[in-house]
Amino acid sequence: MEIDVFTLFPEWFEWFRQQRHVRTVLAAGGRLECVNYRDHTPLGGGQVDDTPFGGGAGMVLRVDVVDAALRARYGIDPVELRDRRRVIALTPGGRLLDDSVVDELAAEESLTLLCGRYEGFDERVLEHLASERLSIGRYVLAGGELAAMVVCDAILRKLPGALGHDDSALEESFSPALAGAPEYPHYTRPSDYRGWPVPEVLLSGHHANIRHWRLEQSRSRAEAQARERQNRRPAAEPGPLP
Ligand code: ADE
Repeated sequence: MEIDVFTLFPEWFEWFRQQRHVRTVLAAGGRLECVNYRDHTPLGGGQVDDTPFGGGAGMVLRVDVVDAALRARYGIDPVELRDRRRVIALTPGGRLLDDSVVDELAAEESLTLLCGRYEGFDERVLEHLASERLSIGRYVLAGGELAAMVVCDAILRKLPGALGHDDSALEESFSPALAGAPEYPHYTRPSDYRGWPVPEVLLSGHHANIRHWRLEQSRSRAEAQARERQNRRPAAEPGPLP
């Protein structure tokens, strides 16, 4: 897996690259590299953003800057690049990340993640340079860097060997192995703490019963979540604009 992250803050990823599961994947031949938009800007003084046409608060990441950075990295017109490689713009309104999207991305050989900053991207980045848009949730972060790290973390931990135990990522919350349900609860020593005992069945050594109990727990958590979703007020529909 080779991931390129385009960002104005490559130093944020130094910490991320040092984390154990990331180091393991990198040592096994994976790649996670950052490209600083500012290093490739065609504008003077390291400029990368500009005020929005039509007025309004904040600054917008310029399309010519993103174009130049992609071109410098890959040596071809980014408009062609996006047909050959997934170029993913991180933006709050994009496709929502979930376990199946992570599986889909983890199966790719290479990915490009574009981080926005300030008010986000000039819309032409999304329309003409990115192949898709991805969101880690319906809230707005100050930029795409933390979202990119979430995406990388979720992908890298699925790669063989990342967690030191290949089964760890198989039977986990929302995985096909649990039919998309949340994972069952885990316990470790002490078996009784302040009168909070570990369920008896887990201490029984009876593997079939343990398996049955775990699947039951997982299923009832899924049902509880479904009930919660039903009881929740429907997400506010965007109202008429003022
Ligand atoms: N950039 C800012 N907020 C974001 C979000 N929620 N998801 C992805 N990218 C973002």
